[in-house]
Amino acid sequence: MSTAVSPESSPTMQGKPLSIAVYPGTFDPITNGHVDIIKRALSLFDKVIIVIAVNALKTPLFTIEERIDMINQCFTSNDRVEVDTTAGLLVDYATSKNACAIVRGLRAVSDFDYEFQLALMNRKLQRRVETVFLMTGFRWIYISSSIIKDAARHGGDVSGVVPAHVKTALQTKFN
Ligand code: COA
Repeated sequence: MSTAVSPESSPTMQGKPLSIAVYPGTFDPITNGHVDIIKRALSLFDKVIIVIAVNALKTPLFTIEERIDMINQCFTSNDRVEVDTTAGLLVDYATSKNACAIVRGLRAVSDFDYEFQLALMNRKLQRRVETVFLMTGFRWIYISSSIIKDAARHGGDVSGVVPAHVKTALQTKFN
């Protein structure tokens, strides 16, 4: 069980503890599928912290600063959304923020095995943080950041699957 990080004092709203969720990912880049999950998570939790975490198997195209900026631009006037990064264990990060849940989006059945493993491992590491799965919106089931990058790299039009500023950032990267 993780004990390394001590939680911040619990934030409250009108004297009531806030329900906080973390939504982790590489976000290289953020897509409309991610945005859909975040918006829906906001109907379940008082605050959602989008946390750019490290997936050791990936070498991101965008820097951390670029990814933070692209995410921030999606939620400019929403003070219930925060963007942060962690280089450590996700459950330690969640505990340090007093989060009660980790939100994950499930796409096709193919996601299930990996997500199940991840959730069980996170639960073994820290029982107090639950994993909450949201079904990815139908329109986003077959997209991923990699597929979108690949399309953009070859000059494909990625309108509709990423926010407009992300499309521009992709075009700039590949020009
Ligand atoms: N709509 C569209 N696409 C989506 C999506 C959605 N709702 N949700 C996820 N995707 C895509 C992502 O863009 C990503 O695409 P890519 O593989 O082409 O980059 C793919 O689905 C996989 O997403 P995800 O499973 O969230 O992987 P990730 O690399 O973004 O995030 C971490 C994995 C960072 C959360 C995980 O490695 C982690 O927790 N790291 C921290 C270290 C740690 O605690 N490790 C122990 C875990 S037990």
